[in-house]
Amino acid sequence: PRHARIVADLLAWGEAARRTLPWRDTRDPWGVLVAEAMLQQTQVVRVVERWPVFLERFPDPATTAVAPLADVLAAWSGLGYYRRARDLHRTAIAVVEHHGGRLPEELDALLALPGIGPYTARAVLAFALERPHGIVDANASRFLARAVAGERLTPARAQALADVLVPADAAWAWNQTVLDLGATVCVARSPRCDACPIVGSCAWHACGLEEPDPARGSAGASVRQAPFAGSDRQGRGRLLAALVEGGIPLAGLAEVAGWPDDPERARRVADDLVAEGLAVHDGTTLRLPA
Ligand code: ADE
Repeated sequence: PRHARIVADLLAWGEAARRTLPWRDTRDPWGVLVAEAMLQQTQVVRVVERWPVFLERFPDPATTAVAPLADVLAAWSGLGYYRRARDLHRTAIAVVEHHGGRLPEELDALLALPGIGPYTARAVLAFALERPHGIVDANASRFLARAVAGERLTPARAQALADVLVPADAAWAWNQTVLDLGATVCVARSPRCDACPIVGSCAWHACGLEEPDPARGSAGASVRQAPFAGSDRQGRGRLLAALVEGGIPLAGLAEVAGWPDDPERARRVADDLVAEGLAVHDGTTLRLPA
């Protein structure tokens, strides 16, 4: 009964509170996949700008599969974590080779594609196909641990709870609503319980918001990132941004990475890019792969 009340109250709140976001107007699996790939590490406001532009150039797996990886990376420029773009390219190729150019509609087949994990596979099923899967990302996991369970959740329990809660006839609305609650009300630090539609059914609120926060250490809970400034990731981002514009002479690598005094570090980060298939070099110049 408490679960049923949580579901009913949240769905009603979701109807009114739903954020207007462009990818919520599509039921195209590829469009959903691209949105979820972008949203994994990039803020919603930036994805709102970039998702339609990317899809205009790469509207489906077939178009993406025949494009050079360099073009896909260029369309990703500035979004960071270029591995996601490389994985989309690889997924497009696999989908053309093995699934007739359309994303598969079974969980296991989606999970077998490059870069598609438990969250993304279920997001495609729930958001494009309206299948009754519960998605577990950092936002959903906070809601499940705090409001539903009132205790820390392992990944398996969080997934099981998510799948039990999802209403069979409202999988799309339910999952979007859970994301909205986590993004706007049940936020990581200082949750806004005064604005919460299910505060009366919340397990954590019932025990006086006792510490530790059940979301801490739960499945998918966000771990604080190391500072960006001065990190390898910062130099890596500079190299990729420059590569999208053209080749980098190996002698200029350290300069471009922002580490003029540490060519070894720049070379190591460049070697990582090559190892991951994000760059190639011919002994003198680092370039994007063809
Ligand atoms: N973050 C990840 N997926 C999202 C979605 N579909 N809507 C809003 N934020 C999200």
